[in-house]
Amino acid sequence: MRLLSGRNRVCGAIAGSLFCASAVAQNCVNETITAAIPTDASIALQSYSYCGGNLSVVAYVKNVDYDKIVTLYWTNADGVSTPLNAFTLGFQSQANPDWSWELWGASGSLYPDGITSFVNITYQALDVGQTYVQQLGQKVIATGAAIPNSPQPPVYTAYATPKFFSDDITQWIAANNNSEAGISKTRMFNNIDIPGAAPGTVIAAQSYTAPDYAYHWVRDASLTMDVVNTMYSLTTNKARKQFYQNLLFQYAAAGAQEQNDPGLQTGLGEPKFNLDNSIFTGPWGRPQNDGPATRAITLMEFSYAYLASGGSKQTVREKLYDSNNYPKVAPMIRDLQFVATNWSSPSFDLWEEEPSDHFYTRMVQRRALVMGSQFASFMGDSALSKTLSDAAAALSATLSQFWDPLRQLILYEYGPVMRGKSSYKDIAVVLGVLHGYAGDGVYSYTNDQVLVSAYQIATSFLDVFPIATSATKDANGNPLGIAVGRYPEDVYDGVSTSLGNPWYLATSAMAELLYRASIEFATSTSITVTTTSLPFWKYFAADVNVSTTTYHIWDPQFYELLAALQGWGDAFLRRVKYHTPSNGHLTEEFNRVTGQPQGAADLTWSYAALLTASFARETARANLLYPTEIANL
Ligand SMILES: *[C@@H]1O[C@H](CO)[C@@H](O)[C@H](O)[C@H]1NC(C)=O
Ligand SMILES: *[C@@H]1O[C@H](CO)[C@@H](O)[C@H](O)[C@H]1NC(C)=O
Ligand SMILES: *[C@@H]1O[C@H](CO)[C@@H](O)[C@H](O)[C@H]1NC(C)=O
Ligand SMILES: *[C@@H]1O[C@H](CO)[C@@H](O)[C@H](O)[C@H]1NC(C)=O
Ligand SMILES: *[C@@H]1O[C@H](CO)[C@@H](O)[C@H](O)[C@H]1NC(C)=O
Ligand SMILES: *[C@@H]1O[C@H](CO)[C@@H](O)[C@H](O)[C@H]1NC(C)=O
Repeated sequence: MRLLSGRNRVCGAIAGSLFCASAVAQNCVNETITAAIPTDASIALQSYSYCGGNLSVVAYVKNVDYDKIVTLYWTNADGVSTPLNAFTLGFQSQANPDWSWELWGASGSLYPDGITSFVNITYQALDVGQTYVQQLGQKVIATGAAIPNSPQPPVYTAYATPKFFSDDITQWIAANNNSEAGISKTRMFNNIDIPGAAPGTVIAAQSYTAPDYAYHWVRDASLTMDVVNTMYSLTTNKARKQFYQNLLFQYAAAGAQEQNDPGLQTGLGEPKFNLDNSIFTGPWGRPQNDGPATRAITLMEFSYAYLASGGSKQTVREKLYDSNNYPKVAPMIRDLQFVATNWSSPSFDLWEEEPSDHFYTRMVQRRALVMGSQFASFMGDSALSKTLSDAAAALSATLSQFWDPLRQLILYEYGPVMRGKSSYKDIAVVLGVLHGYAGDGVYSYTNDQVLVSAYQIATSFLDVFPIATSATKDANGNPLGIAVGRYPEDVYDGVSTSLGNPWYLATSAMAELLYRASIEFATSTSITVTTTSLPFWKYFAADVNVSTTTYHIWDPQFYELLAALQGWGDAFLRRVKYHTPSNGHLTEEFNRVTGQPQGAADLTWSYAALLTASFARETARANLLYPTEIANL
């Protein structure tokens, strides 16, 4: 439990008197802990500076293998050490000429948790299976400027007040081959089952160097095939239906083949496969335990759609579900059991950067378990159904740990600050809701914590991407939504590391969340604004005099708020449109300064995200035939 009192003061008892560093410090001081490369250890904290509330640390790390995880733990202002009170360090430079030692470091603002002392620095050398520790027990001295003490999230003033759906976006995503939706469909299918690849595989992008994305990622493939399933379930064209169905059965069989690969290093959490569907064995961030969950979700949805189209339960059992009796082709039971057994193990996130407990991963795992329990029961498997519902209940009980009441934010992970990612803001939270909401009221699109988090995450990019403020209108004067990236501290530029950029799929995700929220509010016929969600509404409905109350369907404000969600949804899609070249092709990113496309060409996920946002928009517009029309193209 973290207490508000005394949060930002670093006080310690020295010789019986209370010493508060923030009251006396003036300039940043770099404290040396270990003056030279140690001769009797493999890890040592070299130095730190805790200045104006920001901590910077540097450590000596012995270079014994490739896969290293270095974590510095401390106690917060309340004197306790939670999973959040830690830094994951990153490589900085070699420490000696023969590179037998390296310097690793991290920095970030510790506000609002504070720090009192370092506990230990732990070095996991994954390839050699060793863990090295330096116990510290070292009191941390605050220096420099006073530590900021406002616990409130930053307040931004909206630069636009868009309302309702706009014709330019309706035309841009219209159900024809030449619209952006039509192009996205064509380009997405162009990356499924490419010539020479194993059947049922999805290439992340046909980019073979700089960056090399020529692999089948379990997560990306499942999200793509989920869009294929939407088309399968809705098409009225017989030939199209058969085509989609064949792809989905091939995809299921490819999944079972992946599960049986003898080279798996981390079980079903293996994140990526070669195009011949053999395991990728090089160094990588593994496991990524969201993959089995998203694959199971896609295949459960496909099973229901297949049955609704007249398919037999026996075929579902033999080709999709029953891994016990049909292990070579049917992956579902194994995926669901893996999720039930492993959801609480830390794993790498969807960006493949850090092993921890991730909100995105938990959300998709939860949805797989909730759906899986119903599906197993439907298949007559009551024991498995109970295993899955028990796991879902246990997992659900952990979700509240991601809500940080001081930051008023759903944290993307309940774990250490990764290399300066101290904002804890990540669009992965929005994606977790879009991909992981189980339809049962738990973290739904209209949840007030979800809304305020989406507001904080989206607006954080106003401070880091020049294009977000240099271009706020298109040539016709229509507002552009905020250019959204993965997280504000991102340094991945699409090829290597320098400065992060906005991503098409992240910007589309904001549009999709707003459309889906508008659908859910409209269905529930009321909007309750809470103190938690008020900052979201004050930004996205800046011209509505919104207060903490419930607006009912008979209140004029109810319609104004819905129109604001629709208007901003379109503004976010207009941002995507604005940075889409005339051929309609979508890369991974667009440049933070120029807005020009950047990173992997034709990223499959960029197209899938544009399509799911378009489906949500047209559903919100009550254009219910739209997904069928896209599916029939
Ligand atoms: C402290 O100073 C040393 C020597 O200038 C430098 O190498 C190190 O990076 C500094 N440490 C921090 C945490 O800034
Ligand atoms: C602390 O870091 C924040 C951003 O992370 C920066 O805005 C602020 O100026 C830093 N404060 C000091 C005293 O360096
Ligand atoms: C290091 O400190 C963390 C946080 O207090 C603790 O969970 C962990 O067990 C410690 N590691 C070792 C090896 O002492
Ligand atoms: C999954 O759970 C099993 C059993 O607890 C464990 O041995 C295995 O390491 C876990 N795998 C992953 C990838 O978390
Ligand atoms: C805004 O709403 C509050 C109550 O919800 C009301 O007291 C106030 O007069 C309104 N202000 C305007 C400018 O309409
Ligand atoms: C759209 O393009 C696909 C693929 O090129 C083609 O098969 C289909 O006939 C086109 N549909 C229409 C309506 O033109």
